[in-house]
Amino acid sequence: MRYEELRTPSYIVIEKKLKENLELLYDVQRRSGAKILLAQKAFSMFRVYPLIAEYLTGTTASGIYEARLAHEEMGGSENHVFEPAYKDDEMEEILGICDHVYFNSLSQLEHHRSVWEKYAVEGNVSVGLRVNPEYSTQEGHEIYDPCSPKSRLGVRSSSLGDKLPSGIEGLHMHTLCEQGFEPLRDTFKVFEEKFGKFLYELKWINLGGGHHITKDDYDREGLIELIKYIRSKYEVEVYLEPGEAIALDAGILITEVMDIVDTPDMPTLILDASAACHMPDVLEMPYTPPLLDASDDGVKVRLASRTCLAGDVIGEYTLPSVPSIGDILTFGDMAIYSMVKNNTFNGMPLPDIVLLKEDGEYELVKRFGYTDFKERLS
Ligand SMILES: Cc1ncc(COP(=O)(O)O)c(C=O)c1O
Repeated sequence: MRYEELRTPSYIVIEKKLKENLELLYDVQRRSGAKILLAQKAFSMFRVYPLIAEYLTGTTASGIYEARLAHEEMGGSENHVFEPAYKDDEMEEILGICDHVYFNSLSQLEHHRSVWEKYAVEGNVSVGLRVNPEYSTQEGHEIYDPCSPKSRLGVRSSSLGDKLPSGIEGLHMHTLCEQGFEPLRDTFKVFEEKFGKFLYELKWINLGGGHHITKDDYDREGLIELIKYIRSKYEVEVYLEPGEAIALDAGILITEVMDIVDTPDMPTLILDASAACHMPDVLEMPYTPPLLDASDDGVKVRLASRTCLAGDVIGEYTLPSVPSIGDILTFGDMAIYSMVKNNTFNGMPLPDIVLLKEDGEYELVKRFGYTDFKERLS
C-alpha cells in the first residue's frame, strides 16, 4: 500500500525505528551480558515478534493471554510471567508454556506450590519472587509507583526472614516508570541492602521495566557497568524487561479532521481518533501526545474526538494555521500503550494497524470491524 491508500485512524509502526531501538538494546545485552525481555503490556504487535526475537531474549507477560501470545508467536524465546495472583485453573497452563514464573506474595507461592514444584523439579520452570525495595524514585504518579506506601506489589523485606522459601531461584523488582539510569542505580543500592544477602544463592535477578534505555540521553554505559557489577559479584543472570524502550517513538497515529467547532477560546477540531478509545494513556497518565504537525508559532487549536465524552480531548496545540476539514494530522509515539489498551467505547471503530516497512511499503496488518465490537458484548 501507499500512504495515500491508508485509512484513518491508523496506528503505523515504523520498522526502521523499531530496529534502531532493538539494535541499541541488543548492544546493551551483548556488552553487559544482561538478558532483555519485551514487556508485552506495552507493545504486543505480534506481527513484529519474529523481528524482536532476533534481538531480544524473550518476553514477559502480565496475564495468561500475553503468555500464550508469546508462546505462539515468539518462536521458542524465553517466556516469563508475573501476575499479582494466579487463578487455580490457569496455573497448569501457565506452567506448561512459561519457563519463568514470578509470584507476588508468599501466600500465592505456597498456594500454588504443589503445582509449580512438579515443573520446577523437572527443570522446566524457574520460580521467582517479586520484592518491593520500598524506594520511590518518582513523584506525583502514585498510580505508576509500585513502591508507594500502599503498594500491593512485591514482598517487603520485613516479611522475609533470613532465608527465602525453598524453590525460589530468582528475585524480581519493578519500580521505575519512564526513567533514566540514575534512579535504577539508586534503587539497586537499596535493593542490595535489603535483599543482597539472598542473591548469592540465586540464579537470576530481574530489574523490571521503566528503563528508557533507547532515549538519546539515557546513560547506557552506566547501565552496562551496573549489570556487569551485579553479574560478577553475585554470579546471577540479570534480566531487564522494558516495554516502552522497545517501541519508543516507533509509531504514529494518523487521524482526519472531521469538523471544526467554534468554541469560545479557540477552534476545536473533531478528529476520528479518540483519546478515550485509541490512546487511553492520554487521559489516564495524563499526558499530551506529541503532534508532528505542531509548530512554535501560529494558531492555537484544541484537538478532540468524535465520541460524546465531553472530556475526550487530546490536547491543545499550536499549528501554523487552522487545518481544513479532511486534513490528516499525525500524533507521535503511538506504538506503546496504545493498541494494547484501546477499546470501542461509544461504538467507535478501532484504528487499522499498519507496518511501515524499511522499503517504504505500508503493510496493512489488521483491519477491525463491527464484529470486534459486537463479540465483546452480549
Ligand atoms: C512488572 C512490569 N514489568 C515491566 C513493565 C514495563 O514497563 P515500561 O513499559 O515502562 O518499560 C511494567 C509496566 O508497568 C511492569 O509493571
